[in-house]
Amino acid sequence: MSRERIAVIYSSATGNTRRVAEAIAEALGVEARDIREISLGSITGAKLVFVGSGVYFLKPPRRMVRFLEGFPSLVGVKAAVFGTYGAWPSQLPVLRSLLEEKGAEVIVEFSCPGEDRLTLGILQRGRPDERDLERAREFAKQVARRAGYSFPESSL
Ligand SMILES: Cc1cc2nc3c(=O)[nH]c(=O)nc-3n(C[C@H](O)[C@H](O)[C@H](O)COP(=O)(O)O)c2cc1C
Repeated sequence: MSRERIAVIYSSATGNTRRVAEAIAEALGVEARDIREISLGSITGAKLVFVGSGVYFLKPPRRMVRFLEGFPSLVGVKAAVFGTYGAWPSQLPVLRSLLEEKGAEVIVEFSCPGEDRLTLGILQRGRPDERDLERAREFAKQVARRAGYSFPESSL
């Protein structure tokens, strides 16, 4: 299956989730894309979609919710949700149900801490760190394999 059919999209206010998205994309040989810079049309044809964000007052950012609400049908599309958090990744079930409402099959979730500006960086300072990003790369490869993509180990 062609890697062009994998989309990695994110919303990231302070850059934490962007770093995770870039690690996921790098592991798969694709580009991570900020939803502020893409149109819905640019993910048309994707067969596997990674969707990620931080959590803001227990929810995904409004911008991400609106973006997902605008998606066309995702019947036949596999999806994975990911995100960063200060205390708990409560955006993930919301992202999951928005995608499921569009018909996507959400196969797995990934989260790691992200330095929290709300607490002036006291919570989760320095996260995501290199270990988090390595876990994200591993997660990406596992998801892609589960979705039927195969990569020669040497190209990962
Ligand atoms: C205004 C604000 C509200 C937040 N609300 C939550 C929250 O409800 N739960 C939580 O676990 N983290 C919360 N956080 C922490 C962020 O989700 C965390 O730092 C995340 O990594 C930010 O991701 P981003 O930079 O990709 O947007 C909040 C941070 C800010 C600045």
